[in-house]
Amino acid sequence: MLLPTVLTGCGGYQDTLNPHSHAAGDITNLFWVMMAVAFGGLALVTGLLVFAWVRRGRRGIGADADGPHPGEKPAWFVVLGMGVVFPLTVVVALFIVSDWAIVKVTQAPAASSTAMTVKAVGHQWYWAFRYPGTKAVTADELHIPVDTRVNLVATTADVIHSFWVPELNRKIDTIPGQENRILLYANQADVYRGQCAEYCGLQHAHMGMLVFAQPKAEFRKWLRQQAAPAAAPKTGIERQGQDVFLNGACSSCHAIRGTSAHGYVGPDLTHLASRTMLAGLTIPNTPDYLARWITDSQHFKPGNKMPDIQLSRAQLHALVAYLGSLK
Ligand code: CUA
Repeated sequence: MLLPTVLTGCGGYQDTLNPHSHAAGDITNLFWVMMAVAFGGLALVTGLLVFAWVRRGRRGIGADADGPHPGEKPAWFVVLGMGVVFPLTVVVALFIVSDWAIVKVTQAPAASSTAMTVKAVGHQWYWAFRYPGTKAVTADELHIPVDTRVNLVATTADVIHSFWVPELNRKIDTIPGQENRILLYANQADVYRGQCAEYCGLQHAHMGMLVFAQPKAEFRKWLRQQAAPAAAPKTGIERQGQDVFLNGACSSCHAIRGTSAHGYVGPDLTHLASRTMLAGLTIPNTPDYLARWITDSQHFKPGNKMPDIQLSRAQLHALVAYLGSLK
């Protein structure tokens, strides 16, 4: 019965033991060292227990009642050695190793050693990513160039969250009124899943993120496109959808750059259609799911701050068409 529970941790997705950066590699090594020491300790203690049990069994119960036999070490020697000196040595050694591996290797990078800065802002319950120096803002899907040292600055819009992409580095908490930094680096072009790692309310578990590590030229192209204002609606139905958005409730919470919508409660939707997932990776970004999210977001993420928007079928259809055009 335990096996399926344990085995669900296996797999190549959001895997701490599949590192793709120097820092994550050191964290993985530390895990294996600690695992080996823990198993060594377990084997030693179990071995001594079995040894004592067998010896005692051979001599008979109560054989040691009159103290140690000649040539035998007294009990206090064993208690002091195995109960104090040995564990202390192991724990201190592990502390030094983990300090060296985790604190030194994963500490915030010197700003001069990084090629670019990305700001991650935790919200209940999504991640906003900003690229200082450009107007680009995205949600839940962060793009970075591969083999590049990125200075990630983590802050929060409300409560404490924790930015964590296990394959790239350790966790970094977002503390109100404070900026925390960490190095974000990926040695392979791939998509890495991350997760908010600090309980932050009802939908904490639905606060996932994706990091797309892209070849440098591809990343620059992406950033240019994200920094641009939203595309103007091209068809009649898209124009209707834009009217629904700008004149209805949507624009009071969401921004679409290049329009009069400047809301900042919910994610920036300027290039919504370029994202693969919605709502903190809860549902895929398809017209069908988008429509269901707009009309009944509480079904997917109970407690989230988006009210259910009352729209006619025609309005919803137009709104989804407009949002789908925001590449
Ligand atoms: Cu944000 Cu947990």
